[in-house]
Amino acid sequence: MTLRSILLSAFGLINFMRPTFAFDTSPLQDFCVADATTKACKEAAKVTSNDFFFSGLHLAGNTSNPYGVAVATVSAAQIPGLNNLGMTLMRVDMAANGFFPPHIHPRATELVTVLEGSMEVGFITSYPDYNYFTKILQKGDVFVVPVGLVHNVQNLAKGNTVAMVAFNSQNPGITNFPNAVFEAKPAVDTDYLARSFRLDKKTIEDLKKKF
Ligand SMILES: *[C@@H]1O[C@H](CO)[C@@H](O)[C@H](O)[C@H]1NC(C)=O
Repeated sequence: MTLRSILLSAFGLINFMRPTFAFDTSPLQDFCVADATTKACKEAAKVTSNDFFFSGLHLAGNTSNPYGVAVATVSAAQIPGLNNLGMTLMRVDMAANGFFPPHIHPRATELVTVLEGSMEVGFITSYPDYNYFTKILQKGDVFVVPVGLVHNVQNLAKGNTVAMVAFNSQNPGITNFPNAVFEAKPAVDTDYLARSFRLDKKTIEDLKKKF
């Protein structure tokens, strides 16, 4: 598994790679359970309790990857009845030293609840303030990351940390800041990045090779 595929599958984006003109809506009916093949609303008579059900978030994910994290996503792909309701839930496992690079979710506010362990989470406000709001969370603590803001997450426990993360979008999306800058295809101009980061071009070339 490549890093890219880990991150893409972790965040459930594969189902959303096709360009669509969709946004979170206010429902016009009680629910619109997505038919697995047509994606249209299932006939109400064919909807069952299982369309609103998922089992499996008690299971720890496999954190054997360079980030030391695993993400299990529960969105409309896993619970058809969640379709069009503008929410996503994720179980996040972090091994010792596990972390998420600075990133944003372009379409969702994030609500983190720690179930086990301890983590640091923080976000940075936009220009011109760049204020940093950060907390060390323990079991039972909850923290909000407002939509679109750059944030950081790292495990502080000696062992695993487990968190449930809720998003107010069916497709929150993720942009990892280091990857976006150094892994863009085609590559962003090295001289421009050197001036932007106030580094020499050699350092930028080295960084590009690492991503
Ligand atoms: C966890 O993932 C690693 C790397 O992909 C793999 O080698 C290993 O077999 C996995 N472990 C389990 C228990 O699935």
